[in-house]
Amino acid sequence: MAEQDTTRRAAVAAPRAAVCRIGVLTGGGDCPGLNAVLRGLVKTAVGRFGWEVLGFEDGFDGLLDPQRVQPLTLDAVRGILPRGGTILGTTNRSNPFDYVWKEGGAIRRADRSAEALERFRALGLDALVVVGGDGTLAIAERFYRLGMPVVGVPKTIDNDLSATDVTFGYQTALQTATEAIDRLHTTAESHHRVLVVEVMGRHAGWIAIESGLAGGADVILLPEIPFTVERVVAALEARRQRGRGFSIVVAAEGAAPRGGAQFVQASAAPTSPTRLGGIAVWLVAEIEARMDVEARAVVLGHLQRGGSPVAFDRVLGTRFGAAAARLIAAGGFGHMVALQTPRIVPVPLADAVGVMKRVPPDGELVETARGLGIAFGD
Ligand code: F6P
Repeated sequence: MAEQDTTRRAAVAAPRAAVCRIGVLTGGGDCPGLNAVLRGLVKTAVGRFGWEVLGFEDGFDGLLDPQRVQPLTLDAVRGILPRGGTILGTTNRSNPFDYVWKEGGAIRRADRSAEALERFRALGLDALVVVGGDGTLAIAERFYRLGMPVVGVPKTIDNDLSATDVTFGYQTALQTATEAIDRLHTTAESHHRVLVVEVMGRHAGWIAIESGLAGGADVILLPEIPFTVERVVAALEARRQRGRGFSIVVAAEGAAPRGGAQFVQASAAPTSPTRLGGIAVWLVAEIEARMDVEARAVVLGHLQRGGSPVAFDRVLGTRFGAAAARLIAAGGFGHMVALQTPRIVPVPLADAVGVMKRVPPDGELVETARGLGIAFGD
């Protein structure tokens, strides 16, 4: 047994002869646990394999700008494990295949992918680790098809990537949302108000349904289940009839009324993706127009993305970062690391991107919530 373990370790530990310098970038929205990934990657790449690591700042922008690259040494990643955000910086506007910028009030675009490829080669890199959500990993997959040796690490607080059981950052966001709902409960109850809490979740309502369950919400609105205001109000009225003078509604930012569209915020900046938001404020007006009750909207927004990662996200981020280094050593380019409990496995990027993991409307979580009397407005 001991001998087998040693053999396996030796096989994994033997780096490809060619690898000596790798790059890493974090793209898309930030997420608690990104620094744990960077630390896990660097400690394994430098400490175990003896490679050099370069960090690109602000996603793929760093690959286009010679000023925005830094050596990621063991010293550089010291003490970052509990820190939120990413020490490399990030942006969700950085797509070299469709690079967008603002010039004299006008939005301009260009394909700068050849430039990025050229720079990757000029830096003498043997691999690039791309840490990001679906959009960032889709860009990584395009570069892989153009010949760049890429390895992906999935990231998003929305937990909507299908190939991995869970993404790091999700548990932290869920905890933040749950604590906020707990606080709102006490003030809602004291004032006999309806509190509408808007949480993140563009395409998938994982944060909404799980924070709603954990926080004891009365109504949960998900992108997966179109709602009507009438049904929401009926649920709130029924509660009032039962003598409950206050209610908590948890609404995912991506939820939409039946036959209607998601709530979008206007922006003068060239944003990508579209900036969602507004469901809570809209719903409060709709509720107050139909019921004799005072309602308030609370938008949790980026509070859910900030702050120190919970232990689960630190551990998963560390495992993903270390696994990405081992995947490079094994030559597993064009793949991303994924949690398929209890193992971390490589999954082809081509299979992983573009496939959303959404809350099943007929699944056990929704059934459990309905059984508890929680309404979905449908
Ligand atoms: O994808 C993660 C996410 O937090 C979404 O839930 C949200 O719509 C989006 O990022 C917001 O990003 P931004 O930082 O551009 O506001």
